[in-house]
Amino acid sequence: MKKSTLVSNSPRATRALGSKVAKSILKLPVGKHAVVVSLEGDLGSGKTTFSQGFARGLGVKERVSSPTFVIMKPYKLKTKNYKLFYHIDCYRLKSPKELLELHWKDIVKNPRAIALVEWGNRVQHLLPRDAFHIRFKHAI
Ligand SMILES: Nc1ncnc2c1ncn2[C@@H]1O[C@H](COP(=O)(O)OP(=O)(O)O)[C@@H](O)[C@H]1O
Ligand SMILES: [Mg+2]
Repeated sequence: MKKSTLVSNSPRATRALGSKVAKSILKLPVGKHAVVVSLEGDLGSGKTTFSQGFARGLGVKERVSSPTFVIMKPYKLKTKNYKLFYHIDCYRLKSPKELLELHWKDIVKNPRAIALVEWGNRVQHLLPRDAFHIRFKHAI
């Protein structure tokens, strides 16, 4: 698996990184199922900040807040290949089953969907094998 490490010195730089990653995902050809990106790392390590830039990079105009209290928030996309963006936060899930109750399997089946999953490591066995993983760490 290809790995790289990047350092971000500010929330702004983390958002810019999110936007850049989103734009490169938009260039991917439509596959057999959704593009899933798992964000992993401690509380306060920048996952939601990254997600805000990611959504912006997909062209989402609405302000993206932490979905911690809603678990999942869908956004419509108007890009050529991708039509739906799901911002998901597994922090408050009592069990991975709760994600299934939110129709996770149908989301993954949609090749025109992109799902960004904060705390994706908590639902690891529900992620497709080709999911992208981004690990967040405090540098200091
Ligand atoms: N380089 C950085 N990247 C992202 N966030 C940073 C950075 N430096 C400081 N912060 C601050 O840290 C907090 C990160 O919180 P958040 O993105 O909600 O993390 P998480 O979703 O992983 O819990 C924000 O308040 C943000 O302003
Ligand atoms: Mg968060």
